[in-house]
Amino acid sequence: MTLESVMQIIENSEIGKNKQIGNFIQIYDCKIGDNSEIKDFVKLRACKIGNNLMVGDFVDLSNTTLGNDNEVWKSASLNNCKIGDRTKIFKFANLYGCKLGYDGKIGSYVEVQSDVKIGNNVTVSSHSFICSLVTIEDDVWMGHGIMTVNDLLPPSRKRTGTTDYWLPTLIKKGAVIGSGAKLLPVIIGENAVVGAGSVVIKDVPPNELWAGVPAKYIRPADELARKIYKQ
Ligand SMILES: CC(C)(COP(=O)(O)OP(=O)(O)OC[C@H]1O[C@@H](n2cnc3c(N)ncnc32)[C@H](O)[C@@H]1OP(=O)(O)O)[C@@H](O)C(=O)NCCC(=O)NCCS
Repeated sequence: MTLESVMQIIENSEIGKNKQIGNFIQIYDCKIGDNSEIKDFVKLRACKIGNNLMVGDFVDLSNTTLGNDNEVWKSASLNNCKIGDRTKIFKFANLYGCKLGYDGKIGSYVEVQSDVKIGNNVTVSSHSFICSLVTIEDDVWMGHGIMTVNDLLPPSRKRTGTTDYWLPTLIKKGAVIGSGAKLLPVIIGENAVVGAGSVVIKDVPPNELWAGVPAKYIRPADELARKIYKQ
């Protein structure tokens, strides 16, 4: 056995042209397109991946489908996910059982749980937690450290053995959520804005700015855009 074959275990996998593969990597049962850059200590299992992939050191991907032009940065972990073209996953993110569209950004240390659906062109900034039963539509922008909540009577799963008491959250197209906001199971309307640090316990209607603890109506959301763009 050569030193190279000790450091690179590639079994039952197809990797396209122009690959750069680092040291101490393990790739099993994967299909990967052309122009891939796979750094050191990476583990890939049962993944289907398009062209122009970049995966950083210590990335762990299993049962996951990626499109073309994806970047998965150092120490991120994805299990059983489906990720659209050009979406980037930054350092130490932990995603499982979720579906993300194209042109997205998932910041460092973000956790996205099972059955979450995230649309296209969505940013979830670092340190946020997106729990099961959350749906995020296209063009949503979320700040840092946002907490979503599905269990209003915790720990209901531990006590009942079911998720029957969990409730969904829907963040509709074009909404903006400020950093540190906490979203209880609610609907955030289209193009609505939630202020930083707010605790949202009621649905926010479309095109409105809500803020505070608990969050309350402040003003129409489009006045903010007017402030910035001086329309
Ligand atoms: C809500 C926000 C967009 C400001 O909107 P605005 O229309 O310019 O608001 P103003 O500063 O004119 O304040 C309007 C009212 O809302 C209140 N308010 C503003 N932001 C608030 C917040 N985050 N929480 C609670 N109340 C807030 C103000 O105190 C003011 O109340 P008053 O009328 O009783 O004095 C802004 O404060 C905010 O939270 N932005 C998000 C920032 C963020 O998370 N960025 C992420 C990346 S760094």
